[in-house]
Amino acid sequence: MKNVFAFAALGVAVLACTPEKPGDPLAEFLVLPEVPYDYTPESLPDHFSQGNVLSADNTPLTNPVTDDGATLGRVLFYDLHLSKNQSVSCAHCHQQAKGFGDDVRFSVGFEGGATARHSMGLSNARFYANGTFFWDQRSSTLEEQVLFPVQDPVEMGLTLDTLVARVSAQPYYPILFEKAFGSDEITEVKIRRALAQFVRSIMSYQSPYDIGRAQVATPAEPFPNFTAQENQGKAIFMGLPPPGTGGGPAPGACITCHGTEAFIAPGPRNNGLDATTTDAGVGGITGNPGQLGLFKSPSLRNLSGRGPYMHDGRFATLAQVVDHYSNGVQNHPNLSPELKGPDGNPVQPNFTPQQKAALVAFLETLNDPVVATNLKFSDPFIR
Ligand code: HEC
Ligand code: HEC
Repeated sequence: MKNVFAFAALGVAVLACTPEKPGDPLAEFLVLPEVPYDYTPESLPDHFSQGNVLSADNTPLTNPVTDDGATLGRVLFYDLHLSKNQSVSCAHCHQQAKGFGDDVRFSVGFEGGATARHSMGLSNARFYANGTFFWDQRSSTLEEQVLFPVQDPVEMGLTLDTLVARVSAQPYYPILFEKAFGSDEITEVKIRRALAQFVRSIMSYQSPYDIGRAQVATPAEPFPNFTAQENQGKAIFMGLPPPGTGGGPAPGACITCHGTEAFIAPGPRNNGLDATTTDAGVGGITGNPGQLGLFKSPSLRNLSGRGPYMHDGRFATLAQVVDHYSNGVQNHPNLSPELKGPDGNPVQPNFTPQQKAALVAFLETLNDPVVATNLKFSDPFIR
């Protein structure tokens, strides 16, 4: 009876284009605004358009983000029906308040199993020019990536056929697919596109860093809204030589790898976690021995809350991460050149305690409260 009623209400909403009324399938299960949230802001900060951020956008022409598409993606992202026993959604391991990552070393899947690597933060995943996903980059597009977790035997445990059947069985989806794609037909391709649109909509550009950056001509200048400590940390991050000494960024400068103002690296690197290969990383996928131990790094935005850090979650805190770069970098055969000194050995900047604290303070200016709290990224389900 309930289904018949829901179906009738849906028909009315579609045919008459009336706003959803209480008792319709959307209002019964979801809290969504009548006019969709804005997932397609018209303007991003100047430092995104002038710098190397927008040029790194991996959005394909076939799947631009739309407000209705990202809305559907948001519902899918939070829907427990996407796991075999309906116990986890994407958001279980990608939590809004935690930079869309999580705070356990290895994430816990639908049956309590542990993932092989630490969850990745999703802020600005869109601004990775080569468009590959996962720590080892095994997915060549985001549209391909988004249904791996659904099929992963540890993470969500569904087949693609069961996924489409599950989604089709929920009364709230036909209208959401209709709005997003102009037809209520539910297909695997549309599920992929909608999830990818939602992930791409998670853009971070309103952190204290961005507020300060808008007030100066170049990132190298001290930011008026920063404390002296945060500005010092920024100078170290950027490898700026002490004023008046001239020269380029110091070897090992964070910015040589985490290089764009989306704070995502242009490609995978080995950052000297181990002297030998403990996880094949990108090389395990490509078969290229020169890429063994190379990993993609997620954007350094919204780090707080999603530690432990690195692909294996080996560092509990940002202070430990900074200790690693200070004097812990190991001479892996594929150690990336950015972390080698002129003699070919790993750099050892040996930061003072004060410099370490400044670096951590700077990293914390990359936390974006808008990403962490904006309703458009939050759980839409009535639980
Ligand atoms: C049980 C935990 C878990 C669930 C559920 C989960 N993920 Fe993940 N996610 C991870 C882990 C762990 C990684 C890193 C895995 C790796 O690289 O080997 C990851 C990586 C990713 C990445 C790659 C980010 C990048 O920059 O390369 C994306 C995107 C992503 N997940 C999206 C999703 C979506 C969409 C869903 C739901 C359909 C989802 N995840 C469900 C744990 C999870
Ligand atoms: C050689 C390039 C390179 C340099 C230079 C570099 N990093 Fe990294 N960074 C990486 C890579 C690659 C990863 C991911 C490594 C992994 O997990 O295996 C990473 C990971 C991180 C992470 C953890 C990200 C996460 O989501 O877990 C933080 C934080 C970080 N780096 C900060 C810094 C800071 C601060 C500096 C400067 C002191 C720095 N990096 C210098 C390449 C670099």
